[in-house]
Amino acid sequence: MPPTIPITADPSLPESTRHVLESISKQFHLPDERLHAITNQFVKDFALGLGEYAKPMAMIPTFVTGVPDGTEKGTFLALDLGGTNLRVCEVQLNGDKTFKLRQQKYKMSEILKTGEATALFDYLADSVDSFLTERGLDLEDQEELHLGLTFSFPVEQSALDKGILLTWTKGFAAKNAVGNDVVRLLQDAFDRKHLHVKCVALVNDTVGALLSRAYTSGGCLLGAIFGTGTNGAYVEDVKNITKLGNSAAAAKGGKMIVNTEWGAFNNTRSILPTTPHDNKLDRESINPKFQAYEKFISGMYLGEITRNLLLSLIDSAPPVLFKGNSTPVLNSHYGFDTAFMSDIEAATSVKDIKAVIVQNLGFEDDQVSDQDAEIVRWACELVATRAAKLSGCAVAAVAIQTGHARLGGGFSKDDSKLAVGVDGSLVQFYPGFETRLRASLRACVGEDVEKRVEIGMAKDGSGVGAALCALQAIKQNTRQPV
Ligand code: GLC
Repeated sequence: MPPTIPITADPSLPESTRHVLESISKQFHLPDERLHAITNQFVKDFALGLGEYAKPMAMIPTFVTGVPDGTEKGTFLALDLGGTNLRVCEVQLNGDKTFKLRQQKYKMSEILKTGEATALFDYLADSVDSFLTERGLDLEDQEELHLGLTFSFPVEQSALDKGILLTWTKGFAAKNAVGNDVVRLLQDAFDRKHLHVKCVALVNDTVGALLSRAYTSGGCLLGAIFGTGTNGAYVEDVKNITKLGNSAAAAKGGKMIVNTEWGAFNNTRSILPTTPHDNKLDRESINPKFQAYEKFISGMYLGEITRNLLLSLIDSAPPVLFKGNSTPVLNSHYGFDTAFMSDIEAATSVKDIKAVIVQNLGFEDDQVSDQDAEIVRWACELVATRAAKLSGCAVAAVAIQTGHARLGGGFSKDDSKLAVGVDGSLVQFYPGFETRLRASLRACVGEDVEKRVEIGMAKDGSGVGAALCALQAIKQNTRQPV
């Protein structure tokens, strides 16, 4: 990355341009007090969601009551729906913190995402079928194969293998799925095709990240996704999940993983730093007024916020960018990919930034000035830094909720590690994402706690997590009297 000299301090900028950029910078700026207020609201919303069903932050009990220690063994199928691609995996847990995974990715078309649910689930079953055929696992006389489904949408679980889809997120809108048990929908599709596969467990990708991190490194407090969408799952005391009422799970006590569905934090936007560019994105999305926090943070949306911002600079009078010219790519909805932002921030010179702009946005070489390149980079940094800082608030809130931190800092019981398993394109590839997240975490809970937070990739979290859940489900079932 080139050295960060605030562009607004560039003396060669015309006064009017400087003025426009400064006022935009202010809209995106998140001072520490604002980060504290957001984190505080997060903790309050956690409590609300743990106490009652149907709150915006769903705080879903997952019925996963144990965290693996690496000794788990077995071979399972896993199906992963909810990211950019559909994946089918065969996961072999070796029982010594290691695993072997073979996987195949399948494309997800817009038609499948928004058509009839039966067509979507038939496609899932077809993908498993072709995976089994390719792997030579489709023997008719074979015992039933056990499969864990990683389904990364808000699902209200009532058991390890049962859950009602509450709503779609991330651009999915398949009809006749909301309100139905997704395990049933999948099993029906397997049965229609006479596949010898039984779906025994349902898991969110955040839970998968937490479990897989725990499996490979022994213990984990939080699993978080910063990718196409964003969400977190953490280990909670069952006594705090008061909405479980007098259920058997409540009576059993102990710990349970809770899927927060934090993407829906502050849907009223009372505290999120909303700009006109965010409002435009929300208005034009397929789920306006929902998933507010996710729309500030995740890979599906950052490029679009930046595109809105760039267009406003092109359109301003006098124009601030590209002499007032645009391109078909920049004019298309979701035409500016978050991956371009990543490439622009990773560029090490103005020349390289220009090359990314020319290659991806459809400008000619001579249409992009040095100043244009610097302003585009500034816009990317603004949007991505706000996203990473907001992400830090969620991590801080979990540290506070689980009794490991206090808002404003000055509290650290010991120096043991607080393990966070993460996955997703932003945290994996976006330059500086973790550093910026950590700066915000530090501002919220102090340096002593921030240092204890060990953020590590949850390798193949969705596959390994689904396999671990399938194992737990089978163990539970064999314990039950027939
Ligand atoms: C969306 C989904 C959530 C998932 C997250 C990350 O927020 O609602 O279930 O965990 O994306 O994939």
